[in-house]
Amino acid sequence: MQKDNNGLHQLEVLKVHHWTSSTFSFSCVRPDNFKFRSGEFVMIGLYIDKKPLLRAYSIASPNWHEEFEFYSIKVEDGPLTSRLQRLKEGEKIIFRNKSVGTLVNDALLKGERLFLFSTGTGIAPFTSIIRDPETYDKFSEVILFQTCRHNNELEYGKSIIESIFKDELLSEIVADKLRFFPTTTREPSQYFGRITDWFKSERFVEEVGSDLEPLEDRVMICGSMAMLNEFKEICLKKGLKEGSNSSPGQFVIEKAFVD
Ligand code: A2P
Repeated sequence: MQKDNNGLHQLEVLKVHHWTSSTFSFSCVRPDNFKFRSGEFVMIGLYIDKKPLLRAYSIASPNWHEEFEFYSIKVEDGPLTSRLQRLKEGEKIIFRNKSVGTLVNDALLKGERLFLFSTGTGIAPFTSIIRDPETYDKFSEVILFQTCRHNNELEYGKSIIESIFKDELLSEIVADKLRFFPTTTREPSQYFGRITDWFKSERFVEEVGSDLEPLEDRVMICGSMAMLNEFKEICLKKGLKEGSNSSPGQFVIEKAFVD
């Protein structure tokens, strides 16, 4: 992998998929010899007027995958996403070859159930985690939630879940350990309402069997600021301790979005 004068590498785009008018995913050729932990993020972007414009993006594919996948919002006047959304196969993005993040198995103590709470494109690190066999070594149940406004915004997550159960090896590892609750807030669906509101009602316990339990349950959270703050509060109130890479705990939040 060759660096340019700015210490950046180029990655060739393999596929682009537009899920809704405001979301898309794309995959790139995985850089040679690049290692990361499922759930981490990297800096990616484009040269704009000869200057690199980079943003933090979670790697949505697991660490064993030959492709590097990203899931992104489209912001019409956003400096980067307005251009990224026009990417075509064969074009190149730039990439800094260092991955970091707290939404990793290493930052959590071993437990029974792993809860993954997300809103919108916050599901990206979790589509990596749920495809990593290590997750199922560490936890006997993995329960993924994604809250979006509309049903069509849940399609990316649903397609990843489908692909897991179609994959011969992964489906055997995952078997009946993985559950997905795709919830909507502005359109009727099977699972209606913000997941934070489920907590305030009986719904959460009804669906998952029991309340959050600090001794057995572990939590990862990734989404909008409002949702991160609300969930952090919920976890602290339930007696869960925040973890980090140097000191694993019972819940973790993606700091890249918090600061
Ligand atoms: P709502 O439609 O009730 O605002 P956004 O597009 O604004 O980032 O929101 C994505 C999804 O996250 C929406 O379904 C939104 O619900 C939901 N959401 C927003 N704030 C919170 C929160 N504090 N806790 C849980 N879900 C939230």
